[in-house]
Amino acid sequence: MRWFRFLPTWLPSGFALSLALVFVIWPMVQAQDKSSTADGSSKGQGDDFASVMARMKQAKPAIMKKHLALLEQRYDLSDNPAKGVTMSRGKPIQQGVRVKLPEGWTWERLTALSPEEIRAKGLFPAGFLPLPHPNHPEGGMVFPKFHIDEIKRQEGRDLTRFDLDFDLPDHLLPEFPPPMYLTTRPDLGDVSQGKLVTIENYYDLFKDILNPKQLEGLRLLLTPMAQQQFNATDDRRSEKPHRGVTCFDCHVNGHTNAATHLVGDIRPQEFRHRIDTPSLRGVHVQRLFGSQRALRSIEDFTEFEQRAAYFDGDPVAATRKGVTILERGSQVHFMGEFQSLLDFPPAPKLDLMGKLDPKKATESELRGQALFFGKAQCATCHPAPYYTDNLMHNLRAERFYKPHLINGHMAAADGPIKTFPLRGIKDSPPYLHDGRLLTLEDTVEFFNLILELKLTPEEKKDLVAFLRCL
Ligand code: HEC
Ligand code: HEC
Repeated sequence: MRWFRFLPTWLPSGFALSLALVFVIWPMVQAQDKSSTADGSSKGQGDDFASVMARMKQAKPAIMKKHLALLEQRYDLSDNPAKGVTMSRGKPIQQGVRVKLPEGWTWERLTALSPEEIRAKGLFPAGFLPLPHPNHPEGGMVFPKFHIDEIKRQEGRDLTRFDLDFDLPDHLLPEFPPPMYLTTRPDLGDVSQGKLVTIENYYDLFKDILNPKQLEGLRLLLTPMAQQQFNATDDRRSEKPHRGVTCFDCHVNGHTNAATHLVGDIRPQEFRHRIDTPSLRGVHVQRLFGSQRALRSIEDFTEFEQRAAYFDGDPVAATRKGVTILERGSQVHFMGEFQSLLDFPPAPKLDLMGKLDPKKATESELRGQALFFGKAQCATCHPAPYYTDNLMHNLRAERFYKPHLINGHMAAADGPIKTFPLRGIKDSPPYLHDGRLLTLEDTVEFFNLILELKLTPEEKKDLVAFLRCL
């Protein structure tokens, strides 16, 4: 054989290299491949998909039980709808303060204490603390059951995770499917016609009211794209290999279904925030995107969602699992353009300045407005007409508690967070970036404590009445 003639010249270095490749480097690559899982944690060498799934399915009931016990300990989760007020398409709004007080305390006695005293005595209500993901060490996207069922019915795509279920009860979530309003066609009202808009029905619903570019943007927002937990590799959390997740699987009809996730940016894992899907209604008046990322345009955020947030900020995982590289000048632009058409829901009691029309408002609502712009100082950060200052603020809730671990999540300090707009706020429970507050009453108690406002029970009621008008 002719090649033997060249053997002596390359053998010493080449052979050594081959040996190294076969016996040292390749096993290392293999080991690394096996140890990087959906959350980036190690899963033990030699595990195949079937045994990982079997183990995680077995662990699921205990994980869910522990998390639901945490929710029970923090909140009153009962179904207690308010009378005479609903979300935009009619789902009842839940009423009352749901955050539980420490044993034997009242809100009035608690708010008489200073932040230092509350911190020293461990009296900060547990429901005001950062809310962990249903399984914080594992993380990833989790969808409410009603959404999973409807997508399965329409598209045959199954968003069930074998290791985890969504945690909050349906009556505390936004209405489903939510109405959809367009800035360009306010005359039409809800353009979704009461349906969940998907790849199956969007064309018929929108072909006569959008231009071809906007239609294409909407199509892309409804197109599944591979993601950390839902992809075709065996590092996934769906039983079967998966086509992926659409933007509107969370931002349903351009609004939110309260699907949850861990923020991609923070490390280590226990410091990452749980994040509650924000509504995309009214993104056209906003200048910062993401609770902490503060990306400057809707195009930037659209590109970032698929390339980074879908994969926990890990470009290696993204490549391995099948990232969709969206073309900036057309696809990203079209998606951004469609999102910018999503309008806030109608607020019939507000005038052109975004303030209450005294002829339409009740006495309590008007008193609430006066408080919002006066004693309660809300308008400093939430100015009319959209009730956002388009900035971020550090509310420094950690003045009230000592850092500690909650079900795998380190409650330490949130840092500056985007002032989410309050227009249409009654439609998008739960509240705050992590969804730790369940009702508008909870948000008023939270800010009453955080801002040390000392509001009376009557004043809190009036503020809630005003927030429900926005
Ligand atoms: C897990 C469900 C989920 C999916 C799927 C999803 N998002 Fe999001 N989206 C979120 C969450 C949660 C945030 C808040 C992020 C943060 O706090 O940093 C967010 C934030 C945004 C924002 C900024 C909103 C604001 O008010 O600051 C935009 C814009 C956005 N997403 C667009 C998209 C697009 C486009 C896609 C598809 C490529 C997408 N999202 C897919 C959950 C999701
Ligand atoms: C110092 C600025 C500041 C003041 C003052 C302020 N807020 Fe906020 N507000 C914020 C920020 C920042 C967020 C987002 C916090 C988060 O998500 O963790 C927020 C969030 C909210 C939310 C939840 C929004 C959502 O989409 O989940 C409500 C409701 C709210 N504020 C109501 C009020 C009320 C009522 C007052 C007055 C009593 C008030 N705020 C005063 C900055 C402020």
